[in-house]
Amino acid sequence: MSNQLLKGKKGIIFGALNDQSIAWKTAEKCYEAGAEIVLTNAPVALRMGEINKLAEQCGNAPVIGCDVTSSDDIKNLLEKSIEHFGGKIDFILHSVGMSLNVRKGNHYTDLNYDWEHKTLDISAMSLHRVCQAAYQMDAINDWGSIVALTYIAAQRIFPDYNEMADAKSLLESIARSFGYHYGVRNKVRINTISQSPTMTTAGSGVKGFGGFLGYADKMSPLGNASAEDCANYCVSLFSDLTRFVTMQNLFHDGGFSSTGVTQAIIDQMEK
Ligand code: NAI
Repeated sequence: MSNQLLKGKKGIIFGALNDQSIAWKTAEKCYEAGAEIVLTNAPVALRMGEINKLAEQCGNAPVIGCDVTSSDDIKNLLEKSIEHFGGKIDFILHSVGMSLNVRKGNHYTDLNYDWEHKTLDISAMSLHRVCQAAYQMDAINDWGSIVALTYIAAQRIFPDYNEMADAKSLLESIARSFGYHYGVRNKVRINTISQSPTMTTAGSGVKGFGGFLGYADKMSPLGNASAEDCANYCVSLFSDLTRFVTMQNLFHDGGFSSTGVTQAIIDQMEK
């Protein structure tokens, strides 16, 4: 049964690639909670066509292509969304990430900097682009909410997370910095959710991801948080129940970030 926490709210969801995507689950949960949504992804991802199923499930939500490295695409997306909704936006989910060096198998000590630029642009600066376009167009209602997804490799070393660790540090910093300016002008809040490792297309691009996922699960008192639970957390952050939460990096990780060791890991080491 839906709680209708987002009744009357309108939002844009970036990054639903397939039904494993965190953005996919979040779109479903937002719709269930009463929101109207617009879906977006990079044109190349839209060509796969999967997103049309999601759009249908979410009350025939419009699907608008947008490469997050293009300011023109972002402006067009915001304009078309406002036109569709007949008014301003209440929330945005930034669920976008890609590492070119990881994809090409380059070690952190042997990065190609052209690719790193692109990684930082797609995975981090894009949050600034979205916030700046929305701010300059005055596209978000007062007390609106922007959430981006991040990972704890921004604070601690996970060697195979590679250049994405640096991208996530920048992403979290942008949420804090823009959160200040948007908060002062429009009470718009900006937060990052630091999610447990999750089996998705982006997640499984990380080397040794299966082992990594199992380790995190054993290191978390509650176990790994699922994509669906992450979606529920997003709904709460888009709702009016969290109006004074802003400029935070919020761990949604079953307690992983506060845990030194668990009995399950000790037992494993003693085997
Ligand atoms: P996913 O692969 O389903 O989503 C990544 C999305 O980024 C895709 O929809 C892709 O099309 C989009 N994207 C890539 N380049 C783009 C561009 N130039 N313009 C627009 N969109 C672009 O994977 P997932 O896991 O749902 O990823 C969502 C977010 O969650 C990412 O920021 C990821 O880093 C973050 N995250 C994922 C974790 C995991 O273990 N899966 C853990 C913590 C955070």
